Amino acid sequence: MAKLIKNGTIVTAADQYQADILIEGDIITRIGLNLDIEDAEVIDASGRYVFPGGVDPHTHLDMPFGGTVTADNFETGTKAAAFGGTTTIIDFCLTNKGVPLSRSVQTWHDKATGKAVIDYGFHLMIAEMTEDVLAELPIMIKEEGITSLKVFMAYKNVFQADDGTLYRTLIEAKQHGALVMVHAENGDVIEHLIAKALAEGKTEPIYHALTRPSVIEGEATGRAAKLTQLANSQLYVVHVTCQEAVEQIAEARNRGVDVWGETCPQYLLLDQTSLEKDDFEGAKYVWSPPLRARDHQEALWNALKNGQLQTLGSDHCSFNFKGQKELGLGDFSKIPNGGPTIEDRFSILFSEGVKKGRITLNQFVDIVSTRSAKLFGLFPQKGTIAVGCDADIVIFDPNVQRTLSAETHHMNVDYNPFEGMTITGEPVSVLSRGKFVIRDKQFVGSPGAGQFLKRSIYNSAAPGVI
Ligand code: URP
Ligand code: ZN
Ligand code: ZN
Ligand code: ZN
Repeated sequence: MAKLIKNGTIVTAADQYQADILIEGDIITRIGLNLDIEDAEVIDASGRYVFPGGVDPHTHLDMPFGGTVTADNFETGTKAAAFGGTTTIIDFCLTNKGVPLSRSVQTWHDKATGKAVIDYGFHLMIAEMTEDVLAELPIMIKEEGITSLKVFMAYKNVFQADDGTLYRTLIEAKQHGALVMVHAENGDVIEHLIAKALAEGKTEPIYHALTRPSVIEGEATGRAAKLTQLANSQLYVVHVTCQEAVEQIAEARNRGVDVWGETCPQYLLLDQTSLEKDDFEGAKYVWSPPLRARDHQEALWNALKNGQLQTLGSDHCSFNFKGQKELGLGDFSKIPNGGPTIEDRFSILFSEGVKKGRITLNQFVDIVSTRSAKLFGLFPQKGTIAVGCDADIVIFDPNVQRTLSAETHHMNVDYNPFEGMTITGEPVSVLSRGKFVIRDKQFVGSPGAGQFLKRSIYNSAAPGVI
C-alpha cells in the first residue's frame, strides 16, 4: 500500500517547506500541498521535521582490528544506525597484501548480506600498488561500484601504506573515477613516539593522545593534499580532528585542489582530558587520531559552518570496555582504537549544531546526509527528498529532550562515550526505501532488507557545489 506522510516540514540541504510526501514502493512519487490519495496509509508528521535519511560515510562493522573484532556487526550496527536516523552507511572493506581485491570484497559482502537492515556500500582499502591491484582496480570501481579507495598513512606494520602507494592510488583514482580517502597521520613518527613513551614506563591511556600530536596530523594532511595536487586527483580526508589539518585542507582548497574533509561527533564534543579518567576508563576514549585539547573544537565547528569541512562520519568502530578495551591494560598501544558513535551522530549534530546556532538546518542536512551522497556517488538516489528518489526518510521530533546512555542505546557495546549528555531532538520513525525500519521508536525492520549499493564514479562537477 502507498504511504502518505502528511503535515510535516520537509527539510533538504536547500529548502525547508510544508508539504506531503507520497511513497509508492521504494520511491517518492509525489510531493505537494494537501495531497489526498485514496488507499494510502497516512502517517501524520505534524510538528515534525521530515529529513532525508542520514548517510554515514565512515563505519567499521565486523572488522578485525587491534587483536579483536568490533563489537557491532552488520546487523547490530545498522539497526543502531537506523534508530539514530541513518539509512545508508559506507563501510570500509579491509584488504591484505597479496590477496586479490575481489576476495576481500567478497569477504565484506559475506559479512553484510542477510544482516544489514539499511542500505550500504563499501570503500576499498589499498595497501599496495602491484600489477594485480592495477588490473583489478578498474573492475572494482566500474563493475563492483566501489568508487572510493582508502589509504592509511598510519598504523605502521598493520594497515599503513607508503607515500608511493598513496601517489599511485591518486593517479589510478583520477583515471578510473574514484575518490581517494586518507587516514592522515604520520605513522612512522608515531611508531617512534610510542616506543619512546613505553620505554619511559608511560603506559596509561593518555599517552595514546600524547604520542599522536596534532602537528603530525596536519603534516600528513598537507602531504596528502600536495600529492593530490601533483596527481591532479581528488582527496577526502577522514576523521579530521584539529586546527592544523583544517588549515591544510582550507589551504589546498584555496589553491583549487579537490580536497574534502570529514569530522566526527567525538571530535566536536569530547576532548583529551577524557583519556585521563581513572580506573583505565580513559581507554573508552581512545581513537586515532586522538581526542584533542578543547580549543580545536571551535576550529572544527567553524570549518563545518564555512564549508572547509563538508561531512560528518561516525567512524563507528565499537569495542566493549570489558574484555576488548582492556586488552591495553598496562600498554596503551594495545588498546583497540575506536568507539561507538553510529547511533548518535545524526542527533548530536542536530542538537549541538542546529539547536546551539552553530550551523543552519539546511547545513545540518547537507553535512549529515546530502554531501556524502554526492561525494560518494549516491546522489540523487540517496541524500535528499525529491520525486524519484529512494524513500529514505526520517520523521524527527525537534523538541524532545533526552539523555544519551548505554542503558538505552541500541549499539552492541557496554558503554556510550557521550554517557549522560542531554540532547534535543530524536528520530521518531525511519523509512528505508519506503518501508518502516523504525516506527514510533520501535524497530520493525528486518535483517537482510538492506541492499548493497553500487555507486557511481566520482563526479568532480557535482560535489563541487557548496
Ligand atoms: O580509532 C579509530 N579511528 N578507529 C577506526 C579505524 C580508523 O582509523 O578509522
Ligand atoms: Zn589503471
Ligand atoms: Zn582512521
Ligand atoms: Zn575509521
